[in-house]
Amino acid sequence: MPDTDRLQPATPQTIRQAAEALSAGGLVAFPTETVYGLGCDATNDAAVAAVYAAKQRPQFNPLIIHFSDKQAASQAVVFNDSADKLADIFWPGALTLVLPRRDGCTISLLASAGLDTLAVRVPNHRIADQLIQASGNPVAAPSANRSGEISPTTAQHVLDGLGDVVDVIVDGGMCAVGLECTVVDLSTETATLLRPGGITQEAIEAVIGPLAVAGTDDDAPKSPGQMSRHYAPKIPLRLNARAANPGEALLAFGPNAKRRAANLSRSGDLMEAAANLFAMLRMLDQPGFNGIAVMPIPDEGLGRAINDRLNRACTK
Ligand code: TXA
Ligand code: MG
Repeated sequence: MPDTDRLQPATPQTIRQAAEALSAGGLVAFPTETVYGLGCDATNDAAVAAVYAAKQRPQFNPLIIHFSDKQAASQAVVFNDSADKLADIFWPGALTLVLPRRDGCTISLLASAGLDTLAVRVPNHRIADQLIQASGNPVAAPSANRSGEISPTTAQHVLDGLGDVVDVIVDGGMCAVGLECTVVDLSTETATLLRPGGITQEAIEAVIGPLAVAGTDDDAPKSPGQMSRHYAPKIPLRLNARAANPGEALLAFGPNAKRRAANLSRSGDLMEAAANLFAMLRMLDQPGFNGIAVMPIPDEGLGRAINDRLNRACTK
């Protein structure tokens, strides 16, 4: 179909169709009060991989998980005092909280780039809320632009940038805030502002006291894009391996591996490989092995993000 047919005005019927597309693993662009998001079912690894592919990100930056209310978010992450206070005051709204994942949390590990934390928020937008509720699952969504381009604040922007890769663009007019949300990491001892955004640092500090600011304070983590706090296995990784040495686990890719090996994608599909990456790394990261041998991954498309991730996991 022509790309323009994917752009739909937000009606109860188109929101229901968009929710069905999400449930089926599709990609739906939708409005929030900040910017348009490129959403997928946050519990579906393959759908999350498709989001990274669509954005053509050279890395797996962790995504924000969107919920319809605090109660729903608290099923995925563990709230502390500061999180309770900030959520009660600023949600729904342009504030994302980074908190520890709950045990048994069903959100895709790929969506959080394998981290033990999750970025959660409740957007202040009627259409976003209706979509999340109708789909029945939290929605993982980065801004709906290709990597390196400007975040979209109208449905037309999304159509121009990503029209060929989304299943539906729900048109809800212009975004009121027009700037991404503020991201605050509450998962460590010092609350840290990772990204300034729609809600000011001052407003947040008035509620929970002084924030460290990423990239400026020595003890604060680096800016989120270059975060060193990515998941790294405890045992060493050996890249571009043809086979496992004695004692090593094999993380295979493609058809030329033993059937029983953990295989990112037997058919060599990079999207499938991305979807499996973090879950398989965790599965093989066992003290019974002396390392993980990883077969070569083609350095193209999503393969670049996979290799970026594997390289970071090697250099602790
Ligand atoms: O307003 C917004 O934030 C929009 C709308 C759609 O909600 N979304 C958005 O997403 O801008 P994105 O992917 O462009 O930015 C997400 C930010 C990144 O800076 C990322 O590093 C950070 O959130 N982030 C996500 N998960 C994180 C985590 N577990 N720990 C630290 N930072 C995280
Ligand atoms: Mg963005």
